[in-house]
Amino acid sequence: MPATRVLTGITTSGTPHLGNYAGAIRPAIAASHRPGVESFYFLADYHALIKVQDPARVQRSTLEIAASWLACGLQPDKVWFYRQSDIPEIPELTWLLTCVAGKGLLNRAHAYKAAVDRNREAGEDDDAGVTAGLFMYPVLMAADILMFKAHSVPVGRDQIQHIEMARDFGARFNHLYGEHFVLPEAAIEESVATLPGLDGRKMSKSYDNTIPLFAPRNELKKLIFSIVTDSRAPGEAKDTEGSALFQLHQAFSTPEQSDDFARAFADGIGWGDAKQALFERIDAEVAPMREKYEALMAKPIEIEAILREGAIKARRIATPLLAELRHAVGLRDLREQVVVAKAGKAKAAMPQFKQYREADGRFHFKLVAADGRELLLGLGHASPREAGQAIARLKADAGAGLREAAGRVVHLGEDAMGELAAHALLEEVAAALAAFAEEGA
Ligand code: TRP
Repeated sequence: MPATRVLTGITTSGTPHLGNYAGAIRPAIAASHRPGVESFYFLADYHALIKVQDPARVQRSTLEIAASWLACGLQPDKVWFYRQSDIPEIPELTWLLTCVAGKGLLNRAHAYKAAVDRNREAGEDDDAGVTAGLFMYPVLMAADILMFKAHSVPVGRDQIQHIEMARDFGARFNHLYGEHFVLPEAAIEESVATLPGLDGRKMSKSYDNTIPLFAPRNELKKLIFSIVTDSRAPGEAKDTEGSALFQLHQAFSTPEQSDDFARAFADGIGWGDAKQALFERIDAEVAPMREKYEALMAKPIEIEAILREGAIKARRIATPLLAELRHAVGLRDLREQVVVAKAGKAKAAMPQFKQYREADGRFHFKLVAADGRELLLGLGHASPREAGQAIARLKADAGAGLREAAGRVVHLGEDAMGELAAHALLEEVAAALAAFAEEGA
């Protein structure tokens, strides 16, 4: 059975709080351990620019969110963990999708409509203060999702519409250009906790009632002691129903621990003691992660390296797909037409992959032009099968990786490429590989 791809983006516009932890981070990391699941987590820093225009805050938030996910147990070698802005294919795909996205559909996006409604109420022009970035938010998000052929996107209810739009844009593109995209489903986790904040309303940055996930111990304690309660005295029975204190406790307890706490409420525990108990519960879960978090925050070099590695891994998917999409829409190498036109009779003139064994005992391959020139020398592989797989990857990549190498960072990774033969022209090799893809070879 093919793996189910689950993808989540986290906007880098704030500091993770306990609500983010219980509602998103903890369930996502648990889900990443399920068999048959491929998890994609990324820092949506392009999205952050839509609401935050303070560069230091975007950078700080990116660091804090990356460190938080890692401290909470995300294993970057088991999942795809990357920063959106490290994947240039995403904005490129955004444009391709922009050209099939219905403007009328975007007009109906909740966030945009809410901005328009506020303007109307204030007697302003509909679009006063609305950037094109806000308007295009759903298209960028669709690119995030469609780029990796995600099946399932765990989101809050407020994001369902965005997933539906991603399906809509993906379906339109597929209809016009062939089946390139998987249409994603929103996954709404009913069982996941929404935590109350300090004032009892939903914990949210916009209410300014949050408890930072990795607040230092004494600050955590101070914040917990500031949670609103009613004025019942010690000895009076307390309601668990509607108690922020109780709900927070529940999110960090086993059912038994929670039952005990409910009994203490019925027995008239004083609010001070209840807060102390809640503090200890939360701190028990958070303290070991806080230690990792602090260590990571002190080593931004390491986090940067992890994210860059993650980008290389993600681009192994994004680069060939984008090459396929560019081709599909007609952004093509002009020489290719010649190949296509001649395809029938020119078959014998195709370049060829040859596999052979070297004196080092390893299995090598090379790409040889029709006239016998060596275009590409592969690395040695342990088995013929592995060499064959490397060739298959090159063919699937259709030369996109090489074009990339010519212009930008080489991202081809350890197994991919070997060395280009000294005399080979990158573009010639890329065109040869594209011809394989064209042939379905
Ligand atoms: N819009 C999401 C939010 O505000 C963040 C996000 C950006 C996202 N791209 C995504 C979530 C892709 C899921 C998939 O929470």
